Amino acid sequence: MDAKPSSESFTEMTELVLPQHTNAIGTAFGGVIMSWIDICSSIAAKRHCGSVCVTARVDALEFKAPIKVGDVVSLTARLNAAFTTSMEIAVRVEVEHAVTGARSLCADARATFVNLGDDGKPCPVPPLLTQNEDEHRVAAQAAERRKRRRAAERTS
Ligand SMILES: CC(C)(COP(=O)(O)OP(=O)(O)OC[C@H]1O[C@@H](n2cnc3c(N)ncnc32)[C@H](O)[C@@H]1OP(=O)(O)O)[C@@H](O)C(=O)NCCC(=O)NCCS
Repeated sequence: MDAKPSSESFTEMTELVLPQHTNAIGTAFGGVIMSWIDICSSIAAKRHCGSVCVTARVDALEFKAPIKVGDVVSLTARLNAAFTTSMEIAVRVEVEHAVTGARSLCADARATFVNLGDDGKPCPVPPLLTQNEDEHRVAAQAAERRKRRRAAERTS
């Protein structure tokens, strides 16, 4: 299976926050943002594998600043690492300033997706081609997280 760079699966989505996306205080409801995070990262996973992938885990989800009704929200998803049948994907949620277009980070998360074969069982993902020091570092950090998680599972 040929290795693929993260640029081939990089995904960007734009959403407008409408009243139906908000909570009682007029800011975006967390569950709506979580659903957008899941959609954006699932598209990146599907682009990398070319087949159906399911969400196995979402880690480190952090809401850093409120998102208001009327805000334009940009979500980006980029592969951090590809393992045997799973991938870790980083998602950023940013609000675009109405006048300048400058973006500010409002939420981020890491999602793990598993590639499924026609039989519905986990099947191999293409390796991730890391192309610079930064990408090597991000992939190594993801591998370390996976190693720690698996070690914790073995002892629990
Ligand atoms: C995710 C799922 C397919 C894994 O199936 P499984 O039989 O447990 O598979 P395995 O134990 O062989 O693990 C397969 C891969 O998933 C990874 N994985 C499984 N559970 C995981 C978890 N909770 N967190 C992170 N990775 C996980 C394993 O590390 C392994 O990765 P690797 O092959 O790259 O090493 C299965 O648990 C499932 O179907 N979960 C429900 C998914 C779902 O409905 N999502 C919401 C809708 S999309």
